[in-house]
Amino acid sequence: MTETSPCRVLVCTHYRFGPQAQSCAMRGSEELLAALQQAAAEGRLAAEVEVGVCFGHCTIGPNVKIVGGALLHGVAPHDVAAVVDAVAARSD
Ligand code: FES
Repeated sequence: MTETSPCRVLVCTHYRFGPQAQSCAMRGSEELLAALQQAAAEGRLAAEVEVGVCFGHCTIGPNVKIVGGALLHGVAPHDVAAVVDAVAARSD
């Protein structure tokens, strides 16, 4: 029997400051992080959900990286099902 490591899901919660600044945190990524962590705790999302770094796509966040899979943009707390699908589709 082979044991596989759990999938990791990284949520950018980075703030950027300045008059033109846009960031995942300003677009609600803290709420998204909480929703994904709750889904994982309830067994609806088979992943470890962690705070991630800025992925450099700050204007189209909140951004979520599925380790070994997709980088998702514009993810909202009601998009948990899309994250579940992305975890299922990852390559490792
Ligand atoms: S602030 Fe989230 S990708 Fe840069």
